[in-house]
Amino acid sequence: MERSAARWWQDAVIYQVYPRSFADSNGDGHGDLPGLIERLDHLRWLGVDALWLTPVFPSPNRDWGYDVSDYLSIHEDFGTLEDSDRLVAEASARGMRVIYDLVPNHTSDRHPWFLDACTGRDASHRDWYVWADPRPDGSLPNNWTSVAGGPAWTLHEPTGQYYLHNFLPSQPDLNWWNPDVGDAFEDILTFWFERGIAGFRIDVAHGLVKDRELRDNPLPGEDDPEPFHRRGQVPVYNMNRPETHEIFRRWRRLADASDRVLIGETWVLQVGRMLSYYGTAGDELHLPLNFPFVLAELSSEALAAIVDEVERGLPEGSWPVWFGSNHDISRFPTRWCRNDEDRVRCALMMLLTLRGTPILYYGDEIGQIDVPVPDDRIRDTMGMPGSINYPGRDPSRTPMQWEPRLGAGFTAPEVEPWLPYGDVARINVADQRRDAASVLNLTRDLIALRRARTELRRGGYERLEAPAGVWLYRRGVDTVIALNLSSRSADVRVGDARVLLSTRRDRDGERCARSLTLRAHEGVVLGCER
Ligand code: NOJ
Repeated sequence: MERSAARWWQDAVIYQVYPRSFADSNGDGHGDLPGLIERLDHLRWLGVDALWLTPVFPSPNRDWGYDVSDYLSIHEDFGTLEDSDRLVAEASARGMRVIYDLVPNHTSDRHPWFLDACTGRDASHRDWYVWADPRPDGSLPNNWTSVAGGPAWTLHEPTGQYYLHNFLPSQPDLNWWNPDVGDAFEDILTFWFERGIAGFRIDVAHGLVKDRELRDNPLPGEDDPEPFHRRGQVPVYNMNRPETHEIFRRWRRLADASDRVLIGETWVLQVGRMLSYYGTAGDELHLPLNFPFVLAELSSEALAAIVDEVERGLPEGSWPVWFGSNHDISRFPTRWCRNDEDRVRCALMMLLTLRGTPILYYGDEIGQIDVPVPDDRIRDTMGMPGSINYPGRDPSRTPMQWEPRLGAGFTAPEVEPWLPYGDVARINVADQRRDAASVLNLTRDLIALRRARTELRRGGYERLEAPAGVWLYRRGVDTVIALNLSSRSADVRVGDARVLLSTRRDRDGERCARSLTLRAHEGVVLGCER
C-alpha cells in the first residue's frame, strides 16, 4: 500500500550533527558552524535531507549546550546569528533543511530568568521555576532523585527554598504550570521558524510537567529496568505527566502552520508510552524518538517485535522514526555490533529500509565506533569518575573522522581537539569515499535507493516468515529486505528476485530463484520479479 501526499520529514533522511565535534574552522579544537558549512558538500553527496544540530545556543556548558542561557542567540564557540542564517541558506541551496534542538525542561542557572528568580520570593520570574519549602523537619521537599545522581533538589539559601533540577544543579527545571513559560517558548519557536529553522528536536520531551503536588516517587520493583534501580526510584511523578500532552498539541498546531517538524526526545522504556507522544489523534509530536528500539539488542527477534508493536499501535496517519546512535548513548557500531563491520552494514541497511524516517548520527555513515576517553580527558560533567553515569557520554562525542592524518580533517594538525580522536587511520571519510565497497558508499547507495524506489519511503511494512535469526520484511509490493542478524548462514525463501543492494556488495545484481542463502550477518534488498 502506498501513501500519498507525504510531508517532507516523512521522505527525509535526517542526520544528527554534534557541532562541537564535526568541523573546527578556527583552530580552537571545538567544531563550529562555519566548519559545518564547509562540510555541507559531504552531506549533500551522502544524500541526507535535513540536519539536526544539538544545541548551539549560548551556554556555560556545564552540560555542553543542554544548559541554555539565551535561547535566541548562537554560542560564541559556534559562531554568530549570521553564521546560523548562512547555514540555513547554504544547506537550503543544497536541498537540505536545518533542525535545531530546544531545551524546554530546564535552563542554565545563568539564564536571566533564573538569575531573576533567585533575587527573592516575589521576583517576577520566581514562579517560572519549581520551588518548594523544606519539609517541617528541614529535609528535602520529596524523594526525587536527579538523572545526574543525588537528590533533584538544591537549597537556595538566601531565599530558604529548594529548587528542582532533574539533571545537574546548574540546570533548574522550569515550571510548566506557569502559562508565561509556555508563552515564552512559543515565542522562541516562532523566532527560529521565522529564521528558516525547519523544526526542533525537543529535549526531555516526556518530562516537562511535574506533579503539581510533588508527590514522592515509588521505589523500583524487582522487574523494573536497571536505570530505575540506579536512581533508586521509578520517575512516576517527575516524568510522563498527562498535562505534558497539551503542550505538544499547541506546538503541533504552530509547527504544522509552516510545515515544521517536532522530534521528541521521549526517553521512555515502553513502546506504548512512547507512542502516546504522537497524541491519541496523531496531533502531538511528529517523530517521538524510539528508545526501546535503540536500547534493544541487535537481533531479529528483539527488534522486529518492537517494530511490530509500533506498526500495530501507531495512531492513524502517524509516522515511525528510527535511529541507532546519538550523543547520549554508545554508538551503534559499538553497542549493537561490537565493532564488527558486517553487523554495522546490516544495521545501516535496517535503519534505511524500515518504514519511517531514519536518523543517522554523524559518523554512522562510516561506521565510526566509540572512542575510549581517559579519565583525565573526560568532559561530560555527568560522567566524571565517581558519578553514577561514569564513564559518561564522551566516547560517542569524539571528533568526526574525516581524514587519516593528524587533525583528522576536523581541526589543524597542531591543535588539541576538545576530545581525543579515534583510530582515524582505520576509519575515515576520505579513504571510504575512494572505496566503492566501503561502509560509506553502502550508506550512500542505500540512501540513493530509498530516493529512487518509492516503496522504500512510502510503502507499507509487512513482516514475512523467516528462519530463526533472520528478519524478512516486505516494503510495499515488490521490495523485500532480508537481514540475517545471526552468526550462522540461513536459507531464506524469497521468490524470484534480483538483489538491488547487498551489505557486502559482492552480490549486487545477483538473481535468485525462490530461495537465497545468506551468510552470517549479511543483508540484501531484493526487487521481486513477477
Ligand atoms: C538529553 C540530552 O540529550 C542530554 O545530552 C542532556 O544531558 C539531557 N537531556 C539534559 O538536558
